[in-house]
Amino acid sequence: MTSSTNVTFGYDDGDIDTNRSAGESLNDMVSRRYSRRDALRGGVSAAAFAVFGGAVLAACSDDDRENDPAPTVTAGSSGNTSSGRLVTLTGTATDNGTITTQNFIQISGPTVALSNAASGAATFIAPSVAASTPLVFRYTAIDSAGQATTAETTVTVAPAALGFTAVAKNKLDVVSIPAGYSVSVLYRLGDPLSAATAAYKNDGTDTDFANRAGDHFDALYWFGLAATGSARDDNSSTRGLLVMNHENITSSYLHVAGPTSVAGARPEAEALKEMECHGVSVVEVAKSGTSWTYAQAGALNRRVTPLTATVFNGPVRGNALLHTVFSPTGVAGRGTINNCANGHTGWGTSLTCEENWAGYFRRPTAADNARRTPKEVVALQRYGVTNANGNNGWATVVPADATSTIYRRWDVQATGASALADFRNEHNQFGWVVEMNPYDKAAAPRKRTALGRMNHEGCWPSNFVAGRKPAFYMGDDAQNEYLYKFVSATAWSAADATAADPLAIGDKYLDNGTLYVAKFNADGTGQWMPLTFGTGPLTTGAAPYAFADQADVLTHARLAGDALGATKMDRPEWTAVNPATGEMYLTLTNNATRTAGNTDAANPRAYIDPPSAQVGNRNGHIIRLRETGDSSEATGFAWDIYLFAAGSDLDATNINLSGLDATNDLSSPDGLWFGRPSNASGLITPVLWIQTDDGAYTDVTNCMMLAAMPGTVNDGGVKTITNGGGSTQATRVGKAPGTQLRRFLVGPVECEITGVDSTPDGKTLFVNIQHPGEGGNAGNITSNWPASQNAPAPGNRPRSATVVITKNDGGVVAL
Ligand code: FEO
Ligand code: CA
Ligand code: CA
Repeated sequence: MTSSTNVTFGYDDGDIDTNRSAGESLNDMVSRRYSRRDALRGGVSAAAFAVFGGAVLAACSDDDRENDPAPTVTAGSSGNTSSGRLVTLTGTATDNGTITTQNFIQISGPTVALSNAASGAATFIAPSVAASTPLVFRYTAIDSAGQATTAETTVTVAPAALGFTAVAKNKLDVVSIPAGYSVSVLYRLGDPLSAATAAYKNDGTDTDFANRAGDHFDALYWFGLAATGSARDDNSSTRGLLVMNHENITSSYLHVAGPTSVAGARPEAEALKEMECHGVSVVEVAKSGTSWTYAQAGALNRRVTPLTATVFNGPVRGNALLHTVFSPTGVAGRGTINNCANGHTGWGTSLTCEENWAGYFRRPTAADNARRTPKEVVALQRYGVTNANGNNGWATVVPADATSTIYRRWDVQATGASALADFRNEHNQFGWVVEMNPYDKAAAPRKRTALGRMNHEGCWPSNFVAGRKPAFYMGDDAQNEYLYKFVSATAWSAADATAADPLAIGDKYLDNGTLYVAKFNADGTGQWMPLTFGTGPLTTGAAPYAFADQADVLTHARLAGDALGATKMDRPEWTAVNPATGEMYLTLTNNATRTAGNTDAANPRAYIDPPSAQVGNRNGHIIRLRETGDSSEATGFAWDIYLFAAGSDLDATNINLSGLDATNDLSSPDGLWFGRPSNASGLITPVLWIQTDDGAYTDVTNCMMLAAMPGTVNDGGVKTITNGGGSTQATRVGKAPGTQLRRFLVGPVECEITGVDSTPDGKTLFVNIQHPGEGGNAGNITSNWPASQNAPAPGNRPRSATVVITKNDGGVVAL
């Protein structure tokens, strides 16, 4: 060995001199004993030996040592692997006596963290590399006489690749995953979130959902915790908080025999339960050995429900559009609802997004339109606040406390003397992006009005670049709605990532900026058009909606998008940003109103997918864009369509344009997320996860999740397809994914797959299963999941739940 060994071991003579024995320093002993031997066979240097301690050296005399044969060793055969995979180094040693010490060290290549290095079976995760890269490791074995022998082995690491066999489509009542992986259920509807809360009976009698997991698990995000206590630790992969959305409810299972009729007065207890099943939960989870559990008594466990105090921030804060009898100054809010997808901020907070809120409100239109201004009617119609009863009839409750307005607020009719006397503006308090600090359960969530009001699906940030204003990409999920981007007024300062008051940092970046809406041109370019009052048609004089000010533009972003001529998309769902390239991906889940007569280059398909006879974009697609100059601040971009979802049996020329086969065909992509850049699944060629919420291919398979390694914008070409009736449409089709797209998971009966994140090391994947058995009820249970995951469990009501997926060998999931 050479001196480089000493450096790797990290010891020097100064260490040795602190460890004295028998009156002679180890340094002296080693020097004396090895002065001859080093010359003879290039033996282990003195300092390296000191690592193994004085006992080794004391075990035999100089004479023994002279005559003792050294160990015979092998370091295993050299081999090949790829980024993210677990590698085991196998060293073997034989000797006439006893092997007292074994050790692997790394000699060359990108530095890896060796586990069990002091053994003949060291392991490591292959590092992320852009090209095939050799890593050399040296194995050393030492016998009881202090004799050492070494051998080296080379592991050649190739770039990351998908490393699993596709899961077959199926309609089983389980979560199906690839061979070599394990799945377990972590956290379910009704699970208690405080020590005092009773176990969930799951028979419709449970109460107190303000202290239980809500229903309809949706987006989730991991926030790391230190090994103990409540401190944030972004590097932790073993203990953290899951922040997750509870979008909606399957009320047919929440009560003993389903909900009491919506038409009559709803029982207060039922309505309260249903409300509390909405919102967000924060739940502490931890890994022990190889298993994960949630902490029922976690100190930061929290439920945010439609009843939780919130505040408004940004340009609409205090505006008359927010005034109600509960919120006379338009600053205070009450709760959040229909929280669908999400986002994170880079400063340790979570974003939750209010999606299909409009239907919760009661507003018989004929009666109420007569009480409204023409402008109000335009806005109420455009946002769909037109439900005569409200989804769950909550406004019908006659509360025991006659002063309570927690039910009355769901009636938005203008029946009082003014906005300060009723809830005519309550709907304006929803449809926002809401920021939460998961590490502070006392902090009120802040509604960030600068990001506009719509059916917010998600809110995903661009990659944070110091000195550049961060952007947040947002889909408005309804047929023919738009894609939006918010660009902060403030350039990113990396020091803000760990600020003590993260919601104040949110104020800094999210309360001032420019909201843009997207226009996709046929030539593959696009524009971000600013929703800025006073510019273009966004003025006080424009028909059909005369904007009053910037608060009006933001509150009615859809009307502003209409005025600007934004591109009507096939239901903009999740956005995801490639951590390596910055390219932004957007799922367009489907559009039943797309016809051959109204396609465009960015929404090009209108067709029939049997057994349905309806024309539309039945299976959805995923569009992507690259900002001009790769800047989050850009006002222009290039785009193409990464993936056309379709059954593999559909027309390959005009429908199955991405050439999907049985291993990767899908319908209605919705959830979308790239692996974290803290592990190989989010570096160089990041893994894109695609989740489905489908009703078109469910005659063949339950909803699913796929993993992909996409290329880049414009890696394919231009194509003209023929829709119904001979109508043609030119579009831009990305390179066919082939085996770079593979089905990873199929969910249980009647579920949607939504919500995915991993620990920073990429070894643990969290996935949410939403509304299994949603078509059934207490008297006709159509799924027993998650009780059915390991064995049939008839009689069990289904529950939304989070599952944990790990690779059995401990490698990075998907690679
Ligand atoms: Fe709640 Fe658009 O999914
Ligand atoms: Ca020996
Ligand atoms: Ca969704």
